[in-house]
Amino acid sequence: MKYGIIGTGWIAESFIEGVRLKTGSEISAVYSRSEQRGAAFALKNGVRRSFTDIEEFLSGDIDAVYIASPNICHFEQSRLALEAGKHVICEKPVTVTPEEYTACKRLADEKHLIYLEAIMYMHTPSREILKETLPRIGRITSAHFDFSQLSSKYPAYLRGENPNIFNPAMATGGLMDLGIYCVYPAVDLFGIPSKITADAVFLDSGADCSGVFSFNYGDKLVTSTYSKTGQDHSGSDIYGDNGSIHIESISKLINASVTDNEGNSYPLLPDIPKGEIMGFEAAEFEEFIRCPESEKYALSCKRSLEVSKIMREIRSLANIHFPGEKRNA
Ligand SMILES: NC(=O)c1ccc[n+]([C@@H]2O[C@H](COP(=O)([O-])OP(=O)(O)OC[C@H]3O[C@@H](n4cnc5c(N)ncnc54)[C@H](OP(=O)(O)O)[C@@H]3O)[C@@H](O)[C@H]2O)c1
Repeated sequence: MKYGIIGTGWIAESFIEGVRLKTGSEISAVYSRSEQRGAAFALKNGVRRSFTDIEEFLSGDIDAVYIASPNICHFEQSRLALEAGKHVICEKPVTVTPEEYTACKRLADEKHLIYLEAIMYMHTPSREILKETLPRIGRITSAHFDFSQLSSKYPAYLRGENPNIFNPAMATGGLMDLGIYCVYPAVDLFGIPSKITADAVFLDSGADCSGVFSFNYGDKLVTSTYSKTGQDHSGSDIYGDNGSIHIESISKLINASVTDNEGNSYPLLPDIPKGEIMGFEAAEFEEFIRCPESEKYALSCKRSLEVSKIMREIRSLANIHFPGEKRNA
């Protein structure tokens, strides 16, 4: 299979590494807004051609597109790629609103194409291991998921620059970038909460830099925290009446252990390099292209829509707004 890549950031390089590690596919083209950046990216990553015209890029010899541009671009670029007859794997959050997701998914279905959100949690084999292990810790009444990672762009923001990640016009910020990684396991492991509460604090740019939300399931409570302006070292935990599971990285689902009520611990999930985890995403995407009726594809799409709806509810509760987005939609 031949991929075209949209976006020339570091995550696109990780995806290329993943494709090369886990599939036999080729990276044929890259689209960049700048000829110089596109050419430099192509040279560094062994990509045959670079384009600055997206229509030209999409009409080229590619079967699928990986989108790694700022969130605000995802909907339009996904739509264009699907219209051009390409399968699409798009970085998280796949679109800003659930309506945009539904529109793209419908278009993909009409054209017999795959439209997939690139979210590590759903595509790593660690997810199955975690799900199978949950019953061993007994009845679960609480969990806490945290993803707090001091942004490498924060010093630039403090210097008065306007990095995309702290610019609400790009539909980014802490929840969209990191909080989503806490929403996914909660929804996938425990379902749709009956009650959500949420709050956030903001930078002067208007971007939410840190936030908290809680999901009440009636019989269990999941709390989550996220931050782009502070670093967590304590990880995430799921608590049952027979023991608990500690997960060092909730986004990558790595370095997890189980501890019983006597304090005995054993390892559950290993460390897996990021490139390899991105490779699982690519491999699963390609599997869905070969087998569009796959139950896992249907489940992945269901989760994307559920998570998108919940993300919007959290934004509404925490007063996180993007320019142009309808309030209380
Ligand atoms: N899976 C993961 O672990 C992971 C990690 C990081 C990010 N992400 C996701 O990947 C996506 C990109 O994030 P990022 O931090 O890499 O974003 P970014 O650095 O702001 O932008 C990525 C690329 O998009 C292009 N771009 C930048 N600003 C743009 C604009 N205003 N309009 C159109 N294109 C623009 C740039 O390429 P050109 O200048 O060459 O056009 C840039 O290299 C986001 O959706 C994010 O959530 C995922």
